[in-house]
Amino acid sequence: MTASRPPLFQRVAIIGLGLIGGSLAAAIREQGLARTVVAGSRSTRTLEQGLALGLIDEGSQDLAVAVRGADLVFVATPVSSMGAVLKALRPGLAERAIVTDGGSVKGAVIAEARQALGDHFPRFVPGHPIAGKEKSGVEAADAGLYRQHRVILTPTPDTDPAATGRVRSLWHAVGAEVLEMAPDHHDRVLAETSHLPHLLAFSLVDTLARQGDSTEIFRYAAGGFRDFTRIASSDPVMWHDIFRENRDAVLEALALFRDGIDRFQNAIEHNDDEALMGVMTRANAARAHFLAMNERTSYTRARHSDDETGMTQQSNPTFLARPGGRLNGRLRVPGDKSMSHRAIMLASLAEGTTTVEGFLEGEDALATLQAFRDMGVLIEGPHHGQVVVHGVGLHGLKAPGKPLYMGNSGTSMRLLTGLLAGQAFDTELSGDESLSKRPMERVASPLREMGARIDTGEGGRPPVRIHGGQALKGIHYPLPMASAQVKSAVLLAGLYAEGETSVTEPAPTRDHTERMLGGFGVPVRRDGATSTVTGGTPLAAGPLDVPADISSAAFFLVGASIAEGSELTLPHVGVNPTRTGVIDILKLMGADIRLENPRDSGGEPVADLVVKSAPLKGIEIPRELVPLAIDEFPAIFIAAACAQGETVLRGAEELRVKESDRIQVMADGLAALGVEHQVHEDGIRIVGGLFGGGEVDSHGDHRIAMSFAMAALRASAPITIHRCANVATSFPGFADLARSAGLDLEVQV
Ligand code: S3P
Repeated sequence: MTASRPPLFQRVAIIGLGLIGGSLAAAIREQGLARTVVAGSRSTRTLEQGLALGLIDEGSQDLAVAVRGADLVFVATPVSSMGAVLKALRPGLAERAIVTDGGSVKGAVIAEARQALGDHFPRFVPGHPIAGKEKSGVEAADAGLYRQHRVILTPTPDTDPAATGRVRSLWHAVGAEVLEMAPDHHDRVLAETSHLPHLLAFSLVDTLARQGDSTEIFRYAAGGFRDFTRIASSDPVMWHDIFRENRDAVLEALALFRDGIDRFQNAIEHNDDEALMGVMTRANAARAHFLAMNERTSYTRARHSDDETGMTQQSNPTFLARPGGRLNGRLRVPGDKSMSHRAIMLASLAEGTTTVEGFLEGEDALATLQAFRDMGVLIEGPHHGQVVVHGVGLHGLKAPGKPLYMGNSGTSMRLLTGLLAGQAFDTELSGDESLSKRPMERVASPLREMGARIDTGEGGRPPVRIHGGQALKGIHYPLPMASAQVKSAVLLAGLYAEGETSVTEPAPTRDHTERMLGGFGVPVRRDGATSTVTGGTPLAAGPLDVPADISSAAFFLVGASIAEGSELTLPHVGVNPTRTGVIDILKLMGADIRLENPRDSGGEPVADLVVKSAPLKGIEIPRELVPLAIDEFPAIFIAAACAQGETVLRGAEELRVKESDRIQVMADGLAALGVEHQVHEDGIRIVGGLFGGGEVDSHGDHRIAMSFAMAALRASAPITIHRCANVATSFPGFADLARSAGLDLEVQV
């Protein structure tokens, strides 16, 4: 017992000393949470074992005696016996005693407790620790059983909140995460997530065991059978009780499942490949999605999690970039992020099937892909960059069953807001911590002018709620800022609007939406800075090729430029003139970059980029190039830090509302390396020269992490970059690719 802190309880009585009760006793002992632990059990053998194992100080077969003087009573007996047990212990309860339980069905237990406890009922806190093992009995008691497991408390309106608070503290103290829920909600959720799977496992094993030659079946039963039926080894008596006590919710879950199985059977009977693939691809993705949602982590990390539950806390890796080296070779960087988003969106709305090659399997584009799956679109893949989208037509999307989670992706959220404004159903879009801070009124406001009904969260930030079923009308919108996302959101809403929708931009921004719409057979009229679409035009599916992302190539353009002796070829990079600002800026600084084999690929210009190291000089960055290099400034700042003289950037206030405040976060990183600079509201002045190593916080911004990794090529000491997990949003495999080219980069998890 810890002498410094008084125990939470004086005397705890554990009624039912099996795995659940015994483990709580063990944890209370280990943590010194009570002066005395008593057990009540019908079995003298169990009580003797409890004493012998040192789990309890005293034991009694008489439950009223066991609870006498206790300030906390934990009932861990089977749910079917709960009523009788509570009745038996009631006479011994002290007035102040708190009673809680560990039953996995709450509605039935609460009804029994109300009856059995009478006026003591407000001191009863219904609970359910979600933990277990295949072994049972007091000998399996484990002080660590509840650590990092969830405990659900289901207080009723009559429950004394102070009692709930005390029970909450107990579970926290043994290492559990405590949640609260209404009892009927708990029973429904558990019926679907726990009781139904157990029922299916028992039923499958029994069904096969009754077959004539069951030994044969079990002898050859390999991984699938074993994995699926593992839980059929659980205690039959306990599960019998649960199915009975949670009868209604279990039957409802079973009916839901029966519908699903019928659909499956139908699809097989009728050779309906599309329906079959639909079930499986949706299930596959949904599982990854649940895991990601649960941990608020990323898609790819959940997809690749092979941990049994996928619930473990994911780490946020650190990059350790060692100084020096050079970059050489031929590297294909992943597919363009902007085009990958648009490919999924437009292919989903098209009539017919679109095969997309070169799709970026990064988390941002996967968030978009998942959103369309959630809206009923059958999407196969991605597999080695290939995605097959079975379009549902302009009006074929279905209401998603839950909010759409956009992860870190601003493009997904903003473009989808426009597209969803024209649907017949309501939607809600949410995102991770960084996205939840980004401005959304910039899209909501013009869309409202078109007749959309959209609510944004506090300060105009996510979540974004879109009320469907509104008739949209075309507008002319002069963009207040140079933003391709806002332009695209308005044009996508324009597909659903009556008449023409046009957008005029203050400076050219990426025009992938306009080009790709053209490719899908929806003409976009372009007149100077104005683009116009006519509502109601159907989209026609066709093959799509996504070139490599110039924004990802940018890190290598900078890395090879600053590291003496480098020469890299980056094949098949998109060189749309609305994206090549980074090449123009680096060339103005003296970089040696050549575009070879320029060609057209599905309406987008592409080329192979060849870059050789060259001495760089500081420049004043021309303002008209800012929107054309908007995502590449973190990398350009590193080039500036290596250049001779100073580089000045102004007119780039948009950088403050990207995945992070890229002016400030880059400035902090440059300061850590000792690079002289001066921050402006709309830009920065960087004085190039020699710099050292240090610790940099990327603030979870993928482009900042990758830029500082490249800086190590010219640093005099190692650079440690924290919070690099989001590199996977735009550039999965960055570390491996960079290492293969010659960067000394270690990923520490
Ligand atoms: C994008 C537009 C840009 C860019 C973003 C992708 C797009 O954002 O920064 O990474 O795909 O339309 P803004 O529209 O906010 O400038």
